[in-house]
Amino acid sequence: MALSLYLLYFLVLAIVSIIFLNLFKKSNSKLPPGPPKLPIIGNLHQLGELPHQSLWRLSRKYGPVIFMKLGTVPTIVVSTPETARQVLRVFDLNCCSRPSLAGSKKLSYNYRDIAFSPFNDYWKEVRKIGVQELFNIKRVQSMEPIMYEEMSKIIDSFSESASTKTPVNLSEKFLSLTAGVMCKASFGVSFQDTVLNSERFNELIPEALKILGSFSASDFYPYVGWIMDRFTGLHKLRERSARDLDAFCEQMINMHLKKDKEENEDFVDLLLKLEKDQVVLGHEKFTRDNIKAILINILLAGIDTAAITMTWAMTELSRNSRLMKKVQSEIREKFGDKEIISLEETDELEYLNMVVKETWRLHPPSPLLIPREVKTEFEINGYTIPVNTRLQVNAWAIGRDPDAWKDPDVFLPERFVDSDINAKGQYFELLPFGGGRRICPAIYMGTKMVDFGLANLLNRFDWKLPEGMKAEDMKMEEAPGLTINKKHDLLLIPVKL
Ligand code: HEM
Ligand SMILES: *[C@@H]1O[C@H](CO)[C@@H](O)[C@H](O)[C@H]1NC(C)=O
Repeated sequence: MALSLYLLYFLVLAIVSIIFLNLFKKSNSKLPPGPPKLPIIGNLHQLGELPHQSLWRLSRKYGPVIFMKLGTVPTIVVSTPETARQVLRVFDLNCCSRPSLAGSKKLSYNYRDIAFSPFNDYWKEVRKIGVQELFNIKRVQSMEPIMYEEMSKIIDSFSESASTKTPVNLSEKFLSLTAGVMCKASFGVSFQDTVLNSERFNELIPEALKILGSFSASDFYPYVGWIMDRFTGLHKLRERSARDLDAFCEQMINMHLKKDKEENEDFVDLLLKLEKDQVVLGHEKFTRDNIKAILINILLAGIDTAAITMTWAMTELSRNSRLMKKVQSEIREKFGDKEIISLEETDELEYLNMVVKETWRLHPPSPLLIPREVKTEFEINGYTIPVNTRLQVNAWAIGRDPDAWKDPDVFLPERFVDSDINAKGQYFELLPFGGGRRICPAIYMGTKMVDFGLANLLNRFDWKLPEGMKAEDMKMEEAPGLTINKKHDLLLIPVKL
């Protein structure tokens, strides 16, 4: 029974593929080169568990612009600073929309968010509000007390581990630090000691990220892929994840509606104000669904990325005692006597900032950025980039490009001495936040969370590898997902000064 359904499924796919193939034959434009395709699956079999790595290998064979078919979907990937500049600067306007994907549709209430919305009037206006009201410098400064509070909790817990010489699970602790900060800033409630700290909530975000990052047949086989998603159970998982996140947002919003006095204004307060004022964005009234979609964006985009950066930075530093000593002496010479280093003070830590940039070069948390969709045809290096193609920039490959970086495999923060390169999307060899119109709108917030977390933990503790472990034994593998974390949790022993 199941077998015959599979057969039917492949038959339908075959027909759809043939139709698509014929559509493409009509144009006589010159597509970028790429690996040979199989019928129906196209190049899907060439993507391993870590697609950014597979694509990097393919780009070394086929060049900086490659064309592939992922299922039936034409996909182009660029992998050098110059081709990224073409996409993100020169032809940004041709391709700054987002494709419709099953997971993102569900988790964004039909694209009523910022990250997955297509390029349209709604997106322009909601992004502007985000930049002006949610992600601005003033708002980040207003989050400082929250960051202090979360940081002192972590310092206390590490002091305890230090006195018993037990390793701490830094992968976990960084995540709970950023989750704590972002939850308090968004919902005004603290993550550790209230409703949020349930088993279920702890799983909500990783689960949603997994769904967004997982192979969904409907994204590669329009019209028919949804059948496959029913078989694999992905559909059910997606429904459940969306339902739980919805219930959670609903609960948070209701809590705010009951709140009588204006305390510290959080993200929910601000978004509720837009709803109450009956603001019109694009051509639609701003409603409860918009609020939820934006809150979910913030949870999914803001928590993992910063935590992952801190985990990789501490991993690289504990592999190299010279760099560790150097960054710690910079911090301690300036702020050694401080309980907690402030957000503003982290600006003075030049070497730490280089360490963070170098971490982003080798470990961009979201290595393929977020897929774009081409709306107007253009050309790169003489190759046609056709309409309705999915377009990705491989920031991970760019960080390892030997023409852009000397000894690209070596973690060397000093390479940024006397260099203007920063991570804000103006230098196409370093793109942890993407670039162009779709660049991460919260660069300042993300950077500050990372600088603050690292500066303080490096200031207050020395860090030792667990008993019997040597620097060269440290595992550097990546774990698959929408954001790329270290596969093996980082365990280190804090040593009190
Ligand atoms: C170290 C931390 C962070 C990193 C590395 C990061 C990285 C990224 C990347 C690579 C993109 C896609 C850019 C593109 O498609 O070209 C993005 C988009 C986005 N990020 Fe971040 N991000 C971080 C922190 C945050 C935080 C804290 C928030 C919110 C509070 C946030 C909200 C968003 C949103 C809303 C978008 C979608 C923008 C759009 O499509 O218009 N990010 N981020
Ligand atoms: C680190 O913490 C996470 C989250 O609590 C847990 O799943 C993981 O097993 C821990 N890792 C180790 C090596 O203890």
